[in-house]
Amino acid sequence: MAQLWGGRFTKETDQMVYQFNASISFDQRLCEQDIRGSIAHATMLARQGVLTEEEKTAIIEGLTGIREDVRAGRLAISDTFEDIHSFVEATLTERIGEPGKKLHTGRSRNDQVALDMKLYVKDEILVLDGLLRELLQALLGIMEENLDTYMPGFTHLQKAQPVTLAHHVGAYFEMFRRDRSRLHDIRARMDTCPLGAGALAGTTYPLDRDLTAELLGFAGPTLNSMDSVSDRDYLIELLSALSTVMMHLSRFCEEIIIWNSNEYQFVEIDDAYSTGSSIMPQKKNPDIAELIRGKTGRVYGSLMGFLTTMKGLPLAYNKDMQEDKEPVFDAVDTVKDCLALFTGMIATMTFREDRMEDSAKNGFTNATDAADYLVNHGVPFRDAHGIVGRLVLYCLEKKISLDEMSLEEYRKISPVFEEDIYEAISMQTCVKRRTTLGAPGEEPMKKVIGLCRKYLDEDQDRRRD
Ligand code: ARG
Repeated sequence: MAQLWGGRFTKETDQMVYQFNASISFDQRLCEQDIRGSIAHATMLARQGVLTEEEKTAIIEGLTGIREDVRAGRLAISDTFEDIHSFVEATLTERIGEPGKKLHTGRSRNDQVALDMKLYVKDEILVLDGLLRELLQALLGIMEENLDTYMPGFTHLQKAQPVTLAHHVGAYFEMFRRDRSRLHDIRARMDTCPLGAGALAGTTYPLDRDLTAELLGFAGPTLNSMDSVSDRDYLIELLSALSTVMMHLSRFCEEIIIWNSNEYQFVEIDDAYSTGSSIMPQKKNPDIAELIRGKTGRVYGSLMGFLTTMKGLPLAYNKDMQEDKEPVFDAVDTVKDCLALFTGMIATMTFREDRMEDSAKNGFTNATDAADYLVNHGVPFRDAHGIVGRLVLYCLEKKISLDEMSLEEYRKISPVFEEDIYEAISMQTCVKRRTTLGAPGEEPMKKVIGLCRKYLDEDQDRRRD
């Protein structure tokens, strides 16, 4: 047991209490952030005359050495320490002596841990952003190649109207674009540095909080020291945004599982992304899509669990807040894996255009267009709806599609029909004539694809700056 406190205690901590209280097993992944924060803190303390230049140099060299040794695997983070903050400080003091003991001047583990988590989240949001961007690139590639790949659009999982694969995938492009924007918003809102808040009430040292905020790449310092050490809103927001990413991935996975089924065969998942059965040799299972769908529950669980942890906590810091780390780390890891795997899966998936088109043709997806044809010939829509309903019933009895009816059969049900009905209800016409912005017609789709491309390209330029 190695701890940063003990002066006012007369007894050793119970071993089980020590273990229950410790967070080193999971907060050790904040080592880099903890060191970054300490270097900024020491730099600021020296500028303010709280540390001498020599002390500062010794501290920074010591911390840099610890960082390098941990990175290289020369220094193991020992679980005999309570948490990562204790480990770094004790190792520093062991290595450089007296100046190490001065590092914690004007600081508490409460503002330290608040800082570490913010640094971690700011970095991870950028990684998540990159992964979402790669997914959007893959989706846009599929859209560009499938402007005239017809497929049924569904409502209630019943064939509704024909759309294109580009249009269907475009719906997910919008969802993941919004996910990115949510993460950007969270990062901008949380971009304030809590360092200097101390345990809860600031400190009596002449800290320059603007300087530490600037050194650590924050837009500025937080404005209330009690809020600084007890704010975990940004983690709730992050878990919520990650849950939404998972919800979108899960919906798409569900569709892929359906499309990959023997009955649909709209897609074939690449061998590299499928798995077999130990007993049924014919099987090729969509396990990755199923697992991503399954892991959604786990990310939602992190959100609900941590929301519940935070409920009812009085100001300011409470140890309950240590429970923020595991759900956040787990959710971030899970979403990163799922995004990378999902992108790989769809980028290598084969779309069976023939199967999709056949399915769009059978199932009366052009029934609305047949009714629109009558409306264009002066029949009120409600009557047209009834007439086409009778056509469908007739086709169902004869086991044929609307395209397979003879003109004579059409005219028996309504004399309004002419030879041009076939052209009017062909799948190509049904899609082509949907020209409003956002519809699957080639014209609006090309416009939207252009806008999506511009969004990704401009974004790339911004990242290069
Ligand atoms: N391990 C703690 C956490 O993750 C660090 C802060 C501890 N502060 C304290 N006063 N016990 O929240």
